[in-house]
Amino acid sequence: MRIDVFTIFPEFFGQVFDFGIIRRAKLAGIVEINVHDIREFATDKHRMVDDRPFGGGDGMVLKPEPIFAAVEHLLGRSEREKYPPSTRVVLLTPQGTPLKQAVSKSIAEETERLLIICGRYEGVDERVNETLVTDEISIGDYVLSGGEPAAVVLIDSIVRLLPDALGSETSAENDSFSDGLLDYPHYTRPAEFRGMQVPEVLLNGNHAEIEKWRREKALEKTKLIRKDLLEGANGEM
Ligand code: 6GU
Repeated sequence: MRIDVFTIFPEFFGQVFDFGIIRRAKLAGIVEINVHDIREFATDKHRMVDDRPFGGGDGMVLKPEPIFAAVEHLLGRSEREKYPPSTRVVLLTPQGTPLKQAVSKSIAEETERLLIICGRYEGVDERVNETLVTDEISIGDYVLSGGEPAAVVLIDSIVRLLPDALGSETSAENDSFSDGLLDYPHYTRPAEFRGMQVPEVLLNGNHAEIEKWRREKALEKTKLIRKDLLEGANGEM
């Protein structure tokens, strides 16, 4: 997969993709990630990327021309209807569709070319959304100053789902949310720490019992703090 991020703060991304699974996926040629400065596509003397909103109101709105120029620099002049199905142009804003594991999964499975435009919280000219963007995504019900942290979240959640991104020692299948439940509790050595014991069942090597215990704990935890997830969970409660 090739990912291109468009932002007015390219320095924000510094080394953020140079650790752990994303770093390994880059080195293995599973993903290529490029970051582009939207300002470089501004053509006016002052390289303006934002302007005051028509109709009045607070804040500045990201201008359409530099964003169109940036995306078209990679895709050529086109509208979203004409992109190949393996190309997606995502706009990150608080108004987008909520990001869920299933969204990341569908992008990971279907997309070869992923463009990500980082919005600012004040707004992005709506014509970007109307003609350039295939998916408007929000990472949750809270306000960020910009889409940059959201881009990191989105990219991480997608890259770990790409074939062979995870080592054989880990699997995306056991992650929280992949089966619609939160993960079960984990313990490692020592078996006793400051008087706190690791549950006996995990020490006795009975894998059927361990499996059952983990499923019960996952359900318990999900019921307690994320009842909304249980509607979509596999298996009985
Ligand atoms: Cl994608 N952008 C901003 N600015 N705020 C957010 C968000 C995105 N997702 C949740 N809050």
